Formats: sequence, structure tokens, C-alpha cells
Amino acid sequence: MKVLGIETSCDETAAAVVEDGYKLLSNVVASSMDLHVKYGGVVPEIAARSHLEVILPVIHEALETAKCAWDDIDAIAVTYGAGLGGSLLIGVMTARTLAITHHKPLYAINHVEAHVYANFLTETSLTGYQMRAEQPAFPMLALIVSGGHSQLMLFQDHFRYRLLGRTQDDAIGEAFDKVAKMTGLPYPGGPSIAKAAANGDATRYKLPKAKMNKYDLSFSGLKTAVLRLAQHEIGESYDFPSIKLPERLSEAQKADIAASFQRIAVETVVDKARLAYEEFAPKSVVIAGGVAANQELRQQLSEATPLPIEYPDLQLCTDNGAMVATLGCFKQFKDQPTADPYTLAIQPNLSM
Ligand code: KG4
Ligand code: ZN
Repeated sequence: MKVLGIETSCDETAAAVVEDGYKLLSNVVASSMDLHVKYGGVVPEIAARSHLEVILPVIHEALETAKCAWDDIDAIAVTYGAGLGGSLLIGVMTARTLAITHHKPLYAINHVEAHVYANFLTETSLTGYQMRAEQPAFPMLALIVSGGHSQLMLFQDHFRYRLLGRTQDDAIGEAFDKVAKMTGLPYPGGPSIAKAAANGDATRYKLPKAKMNKYDLSFSGLKTAVLRLAQHEIGESYDFPSIKLPERLSEAQKADIAASFQRIAVETVVDKARLAYEEFAPKSVVIAGGVAANQELRQQLSEATPLPIEYPDLQLCTDNGAMVATLGCFKQFKDQPTADPYTLAIQPNLSM
């Protein structure tokens, strides 16, 4: 069974073909990231316009690489939320049209849930991928850490899950992006912070860890603490504008801020993961979303639980069509409801 996955929730236009929920046949991602760099973040209108320009070529390339004609495709899966409205609309309208014209069942995919399913891909003949050896076992604890979401989920089985806790304000990736902006590091902030942190002293600055209810998370206090710390470091008051900070901070201060921030941000989620591991004794722990690419997080997590943790390839951690197609395969396996291609609407604020 082969499913075409389409993903356009943010700035990546992505399509992929996955076979039987584990085999990656193609994974094509066109990012409009370069166009957003000078604005320091994703500009929704630019993202939507660029999806429109590249979506059909991206889908055709995904089919071609997978050596699939439309007859070989059993279903189409598309992200319908959460995400930017204009961006989601391009993917959903394209998928609806393709499902109608090629007579394929259509699956509406939750972007956050899809991130988790990157962990079910274990095989590919494409070059440049380091795949997991095995699919995760249930019960499965999922740590979802992306630019828009930070939450802990417990899966008893496919489609039987519950939310343990989530961020009450910013997502962890958003905090990485904002701290990078304050310290003048290029967008996207996650990889920039990680790179700068490698040359910094993670114990130089004391930053606060939010004290939240059980499994809930919070990152906005940490972000403000970094701002205050940077203002204090250059001898200015709390009125000093954050956009002027980069020119006043030394490279060493930037590296130490990056390292100290990264350590606390990562500890915040790892503490919760450890707590959940002790309470629920899951058979596997998976990590999903863009921040799953963070090496410090991987390091701390492997020390926090006795389970050996496997990770998806880095290209499958950030937004991609493969995770969408994989979840689509499981929806078909498990007889989950299909979407109506004539009426499927986007849900920008969809949650799990
Ligand atoms: O999952 P994703 O591609 O998009 C969303 O669904 O949000 O995640 C993007 C986020 C961005 O905030 C980016 O800064 C962060 O993932 N990110 C990282 C790393 N690579 C990407 N954060 C920390 N360390 C990284 N190496
Ligand atoms: Zn994402």
C-alpha cells in the first residue's frame, strides 16, 4: 500500500511516498526559508505564495522518485492543521483536487501527530538517510518539540493516546528562535543556537526553570530571563530595546547565553520526560518535531531514561511529507475515517 503525503503547514512545501507505513520511497522538500531569513521569521503571505509556485513540481518529483504512476498510489494524506492558514490552504486544496481527479481516498492529517509518525519509518533505498532500526513499541511516550508545539503524549496504541501536558505559552522551538534573534544569530534559531552553544559555557549564566503543574511546560519566562540577562550584561536598563542587543554583546557572551539557554530549555523538557517515564513505564520513548534535531536534547534524554532511544533521521525531524504519508498508511491500516474531498476544511488551530 502506497500513500502520497502532502505537507504545507509552514514554510516547507513537501511531498513524499511511503509504502506500508515503514518504507520511505521518496521525500521531497522545497523550503522558502531563504526568503524569510531577512525578516527573522516566516512571513505567512510569502510562504503561501511560494507553496503555490512549487507544490505541483514537488508532488511530481515525489511520485517520480518513488517510481509511481497515479495508479500505484492507494491514498493521499494531507496536513489540514495546525499551521498558517494560507499555507495549509494550498496543500489541502491541491490534495482535494488530486483526490477527486484521481479517485483516491483522502486522509486529513494532524501535523503534530504526523511528527510522531516519523518514528515509524525504518527503511529506504534513498541515499543519505539514517533510518531507525525498529518501529517504536506501545505504550509509547512521545515528546513533541517543534516551533509551534511542545507537549508530552502517551500512546497506548495507534490512535489511542492522551495528552499528559503541554506548554502554557511559547513552544520550545519558538524560544530558540526568539533567543537567537535577541543575540543576533540567524534564523532559524534552533540550529544557530546549537552551533553557538558549542563554543559557549553552559554554566556561565543562571537561568530559571519554569515550575509548572505536573507535565505542563512553559518557556516565556525563560525567554524574558535571557532578555534581562543580556541587558544586564551590557550594563543597560530593562528598557533597552532587544533589537539593539546583538551589536553590544561580544561573541563570547553570545555563545555563553546560547549554551546556558539551551541547557535549561532542554532540561525543562527532559525533566518532564523523566517524570512521565517513571510514572507510566512506557516500552518506548520517541521524540518528534524540529527540536528533536538538537544534540543536547538527545544527549540529556538518553541519560534520563534507561531505554535506548532511537531517533528519526534529521531530515524527518523537521517538516516533511514522509511523516504525513506514514500516518496516512496507519489510518488506512486501522480503518480510520477518510475525509470528504469536496468539503475538507483547514484547521489552523487544530490540537491533539
Ligand atoms: O517541526 P518544525 O520543522 O516546524 C514546526 O512544526 O514548528 O520545527 C521547527 C523548529 C524551529 O523553531 C527551529 O528553530 C527548531 O525546530 N530547530 C531546532 C534545531 N533544528 C530545528 N531547535 C533546536 N536545535 C536544533 N538543532
Ligand atoms: Zn512541524
